[in-house]
Amino acid sequence: MAAELTSAQRYLRIGDQAPDFTAETQLGTLSLYEYLGDSWGILFSHPRDFTPVCTTELGTVAKLKDEWARRNTKVIALSVDGAEEHHRWLADIKEVQGAEVTYPVIADKDRKVALLYGMLDQTHLAASGLPLTVRSVFVIAPDRSIKLIITYPASTGRNFAEILRVLDSLQLTAYHKVATPADWKSGDDTVVLPSVSDEDATKLFPKGFTKVKPYLRITPDPTK
Ligand code: BEZ
Repeated sequence: MAAELTSAQRYLRIGDQAPDFTAETQLGTLSLYEYLGDSWGILFSHPRDFTPVCTTELGTVAKLKDEWARRNTKVIALSVDGAEEHHRWLADIKEVQGAEVTYPVIADKDRKVALLYGMLDQTHLAASGLPLTVRSVFVIAPDRSIKLIITYPASTGRNFAEILRVLDSLQLTAYHKVATPADWKSGDDTVVLPSVSDEDATKLFPKGFTKVKPYLRITPDPTK
C-alpha cells in the first residue's frame, strides 16, 4: 500500500506550474491560488504533529512572521494529521516555543495534496502502514511557477534562515539579470548573468562591474 501510494505521486520540477488545490486547514478551507493572490508562497510539509523536530520547525516559522511579510510571502504548512490535532498541537507550540502559529496548516488526512506535490516518504510510515510526508519545501512565485524544491529527511530539521536567504536570491534574480554566488546574503555583491554582454551590462548596472574573468563579472546588489 505504501509503495503503491508513493510511486503514484507526482514529482514536480523547478519551472512547473504549482498545482492548485483546495484543502482543509486549522483556519478553515484554503484554495491555494486564491490564498496566495499576488504573493510569493512557501508550501512546506512535516511528518507528524506532536513530534519534537516538527514542533521546533513550526515555531521557528511562526517567529519569522515579519520576515515573510517583508518578502511578500505567505507560508503554508502541511501534514497528514487532522485539523483538530493541528489545533491541539499548535497550542503546545505556543506554550513551548512562545510563538503563535497564525499561518494555515493543511490537514491532508487523505494525502491529496501530498500526492499532488510528491511529498510522501516511502521510508517513513504511519502505524496504519500509510506513508507520512517528508520535510518538503516548495517556493512558488506570484506567476505560480515553482522556483525552489528542497527535501529533508524526517530526522533533520530545516534551516529557515537558509530558506529566507534563498527567497532573497529568488526575488532578486527574478527581476534583475544577476545571479548570487556561494554563501551570498542580501546586500552582498552579485554576478552578472553569462547571457548579458559587457555592453549591455554597462547599461544595466550603472554602478559598474569588475571583470575577474570573461565569465565572472561582479557587480553590487542592484537593489541597494
Ligand atoms: C520529529 O519531528 O521530531 C520527527 C518526526 C518524524 C521522525 C523523526 C522525527
